Amino acid sequence: PSIQTYKIVILPGDGVGPEVTAAARDVLNVIADFYGHRFEFSEHLIGGAAIDATGDPLPPETVEACLASHGVLLGAVGGPKWEGGKRRPEEGLLNIRKAMGLFANLRPLQVSPVMAHRSPLKKEIVEGVDLIVFRELTGGVYFGEKVRTDTMASDLCVYSVEEIERVTRAAFRIALQRRGKVTSVDKANVMETSRLWREVVTRIHAEEFPQVQLEHALVDSMAMHLIRKPREYDVILTENMFGDILSDEISVLGGSIGLLPSASLGSGGPGLFEPIHGSAPDIAGRDLANPVGTILSAAMLLRHGLGLDDEASSIEAAVAAVLAAGATTADLGGELGTRAAGEAIIDAIRAIH
Ligand code: NAI
Ligand code: MG
Repeated sequence: PSIQTYKIVILPGDGVGPEVTAAARDVLNVIADFYGHRFEFSEHLIGGAAIDATGDPLPPETVEACLASHGVLLGAVGGPKWEGGKRRPEEGLLNIRKAMGLFANLRPLQVSPVMAHRSPLKKEIVEGVDLIVFRELTGGVYFGEKVRTDTMASDLCVYSVEEIERVTRAAFRIALQRRGKVTSVDKANVMETSRLWREVVTRIHAEEFPQVQLEHALVDSMAMHLIRKPREYDVILTENMFGDILSDEISVLGGSIGLLPSASLGSGGPGLFEPIHGSAPDIAGRDLANPVGTILSAAMLLRHGLGLDDEASSIEAAVAAVLAAGATTADLGGELGTRAAGEAIIDAIRAIH
């Protein structure tokens, strides 16, 4: 029988990036064995590592490999070494998102009892949270025309109907695989782009996804509700800047930045999957980084990139089991290094099968 080969590009990047992506790759190899898949990995340069080797934070061959892949797993980029240099590592990240046409950024958060215990919020507020933020990534005020004179400055916020439609459809589709609820966040009482946003989301809902429960929320009160009753939300859909702010707010509910994954998706092509943390230069190269955020990003790559749901779920179940057992890195109060924490997850996958 012919086994399908999935091409997975790994971009280790800088700082802890190589350590956490190595752990995730080991996990993917074990999944391939259990489920009879063939994952073909290739590693390429991005960020500071790419600047050191080629002078370019995103070499053309990296872009080619990403575009020809089924999915890309990224570690992190940046660090003090490259600050003040001519080229910045972060350019590599912005440019690869652009080159791959990634318009939706997804950040899921599930708060287990162990995480709830470490959260700055009360356990009874955050335990059992299971939500996903869907942030539009290529439009809005970050990309509008910028003007600066001696006495004024302006940033233009622009959204086209098409830009709103494509991210809205993607969010509704994900909602159908979850609890079937979408909360669309805007500032429709003040902003014209938000009024358009609300109209388009309402129309797509009525025409294409009437079975999903839709509610609209204003971003200021949403910021409040998210820390008062985060368990009420399933899919949170919003534009670029609101999503930037709300996803950082949400990332603290779970207690450690090292745990959280993300995905950036386009239409049809490969997606980019990465932990939400940065290159953590303070702990890099010492086998201290928590690999869970990257391992859960690899699970998102399987689910959203390759359509391998069972495989993704088995990684998620293994991570949950390991965290519940306290087999963690130091950021969660455990004693394991990066490698040992990854191996604990591999053992848990073996135990499940
Ligand atoms: P950071 O996320 O790298 O680190 C913040 C704190 O969290 C540090 O104390 C770090 O040790 C800890 N931490 C981060 N990841 C961890 C993990 N996996 N396990 C345990 N502890 C972890 O953010 P920071 O310090 O603001 O930025 C460092 C560098 O990373 C900068 O150059 C920044 O530009 C870059 N960065 C890159 C991102 C990316 O590649 N997507 C995102 C955020 C920052
Ligand atoms: Mg941000």
